[in-house]
Amino acid sequence: MSAASPLLLDEGQRALLAGEHGPLPRRLMRLLLRLGELYGARRLVPVASAQIAGVSYKSLGDPGLGFLEDLAASGARVRVTASLNPSGVDPERAEELGFPADFAAKQARILAAYARLGVLCSATCAPYQAGLLPRFGEHLAWAESSAVAYANAVLGARTNREGGPSALAAALCGCTPEHGLHLDEARRPSHRVRVEAELRSTADFGALGVWVGRRVGAGVPWLEGLCEPGPDALKALGAAMAASGAVAMYHVPGVTPEACLHSPAGLPELRVGRAELEATYAELTCEGEPELLVTGCPHASLAEIAALSRRLAGRRLTRPLWVCTSASTREAARRLGLAAPIEAAGARLLADTCVVVAPLERMGFRTTAVDSGKAACYLPGLCGQRVLFRPLEELLEEHLR
Ligand code: F3S
Repeated sequence: MSAASPLLLDEGQRALLAGEHGPLPRRLMRLLLRLGELYGARRLVPVASAQIAGVSYKSLGDPGLGFLEDLAASGARVRVTASLNPSGVDPERAEELGFPADFAAKQARILAAYARLGVLCSATCAPYQAGLLPRFGEHLAWAESSAVAYANAVLGARTNREGGPSALAAALCGCTPEHGLHLDEARRPSHRVRVEAELRSTADFGALGVWVGRRVGAGVPWLEGLCEPGPDALKALGAAMAASGAVAMYHVPGVTPEACLHSPAGLPELRVGRAELEATYAELTCEGEPELLVTGCPHASLAEIAALSRRLAGRRLTRPLWVCTSASTREAARRLGLAAPIEAAGARLLADTCVVVAPLERMGFRTTAVDSGKAACYLPGLCGQRVLFRPLEELLEEHLR
């Protein structure tokens, strides 16, 4: 053990703690060690990547911007691959879509500071669909709750739901305290959920996720009765369970890779059918006409954009539709000719941002329609929105001509 810490440290970690790489990495190592002590970790584990939240100027404000610029000026650099959660602005379309100019300018300074730290300024909540795909068993330090659920459950990687500072410290030190979901014990199922409804859309998976998250909190649900869900359905499910509860790991027998290691026998049971899903939609839906339609929470995959492109071809929308995605996915959609029918219909592909961290309320929007359980949970409180939560196909049927 290190003389300075009760945690086991390797040679490189001891060097960081001794200040051999400068005062700032030393302070961040101390932060990680303190967190490790609080959580009863025995050691720090090297991480393959970090994913950093706390990117939007809306959440950081001037104090956060100043902190990041000071950090960047110190010469610190990340030690592992690190990417960002969505920012508050699509830099390419800020002016076109009416993002406030002062907000956009501060947002650009935040991204510039992260770039100086060596962070990949790909700002997406679905990095696993945009080139950063963890391997089974890899340790990570990811912050975005929906990405954490996907990485643990679907990919079999191991990450806790990091806060902004701890993910940044892990990126700059290359390690994280080994506790929680880094260990086998926390990955065991806690509740058996019998799904007795046919799920017809990704929004249905979001509604299911909201219902389950509210009941299991930070538990690890074992979900039975799902008919071979694909990556985008699992993305929507995990995001909603993380938003309405604090689910960071789940199992779907026959689908997720660690389900075969466990049994649901003896777990507390929940049953959910169509009536519960419809009640969830109703609870999260206000009366009224939307001013804005949004899809891509979590960020849309190329497959989702391809489906939308086919649906919108030759049609016109009667409301603006934002399709949020990563910059690399938008670029791929453009090159493949998928973006043009979407834009011709009046929709916009937005990259590097999302409605929840964008200054939606400053842009004059008051009522927003979404197909995401997570967005439906967050938009009222974080953006002052009245929300309509429906499957995308229903929203399109109402607003296409
Ligand atoms: Fe992603 Fe924003 Fe939704 S970060 S999961 S699009 S709330």
